[in-house]
Amino acid sequence: MSERENGKVALVTGAGSGIGRACALKLLEHGYNVVLAGRRQAALDAVVQEAQPLRGEALAVPCDVTDADSVAALFETIRARFGRLDVLFNNAGRSGSPVDIDELEISEWRSIVDTNLTGVFLCTRAAFGLMKTQSPRGGRIINNGSISAHAPRPNSIGYTATKHAITGLTKSVSLDGRKYDIVCGQIDIGNAATEMAERMARGVPQANGEIAIEPLMDVQHVADAVLHMANLPLSANVQFMTIMATKMPFVGRG
Ligand SMILES: NC(=O)c1ccc[n+]([C@@H]2O[C@H](COP(=O)([O-])OP(=O)(O)OC[C@H]3O[C@@H](n4cnc5c(N)ncnc54)[C@H](OP(=O)(O)O)[C@@H]3O)[C@@H](O)[C@H]2O)c1
Repeated sequence: MSERENGKVALVTGAGSGIGRACALKLLEHGYNVVLAGRRQAALDAVVQEAQPLRGEALAVPCDVTDADSVAALFETIRARFGRLDVLFNNAGRSGSPVDIDELEISEWRSIVDTNLTGVFLCTRAAFGLMKTQSPRGGRIINNGSISAHAPRPNSIGYTATKHAITGLTKSVSLDGRKYDIVCGQIDIGNAATEMAERMARGVPQANGEIAIEPLMDVQHVADAVLHMANLPLSANVQFMTIMATKMPFVGRG
């Protein structure tokens, strides 16, 4: 191990932008070796470039989490380069077109399910296999849920259904992982200032039909929270954490 790293290996999906980028850089700053996955090589390379002065080693691996072969190749690369995985942050995700339920294309529904649910399952499945056989055994999986894992926004059936499903996935992995020291927790984020959340600052439909500008929070608060979850010993776990812009409409029904 070099003096710069802490010996732990993390995989962040969707690491080329937004929350994934901020969390990958935070983990690198704290000495994790980080594998950055996402579909756009150029976006990943830009983060690797930014990470040059940081303590850990950054490795960009293009991967489409919806594609089982692509995920298998990603984990082969991790196995070959580092021989283990300590933390998986299942972060890659997408939203859907804000349309009435009958107008949502079936192909778009399938793409949302493939990305937000099957993609998380495929990465979890591969991580589970590696973590249960590696020595020292075990590891941590952190799933990126959402406030939408608790309550829908108008016209968001695909996003809301898949994010609710992530809560069940988190609980199953927590339970089935116990005997292998595989720990699983979920972070439910509300309105972190990223490209995906930009529209909140312009005004978004509310349950009562009004359009309202919503407060955002700095994405660095999410990165700090994920670092905290990642740093815990395997004997402790943040099972669920909700971190949100304090005054966004959620608590108090608005
Ligand atoms: N921002 C918020 O306030 C907020 C709130 C709640 C939950 N979240 C969740 O946080 C996560 C990240 O969102 P963000 O706000 O950071 O938005 P973002 O910048 O759009 O990030 C999404 C990331 O996912 C990657 N991705 C999408 N489809 C992929 C696929 N098939 N394979 C691999 N990577 C894929 C994208 O990279 P490529 O396009 O290069 O593949 C991108 O880097 C999502 O799961 C989102 O639901 C965000």
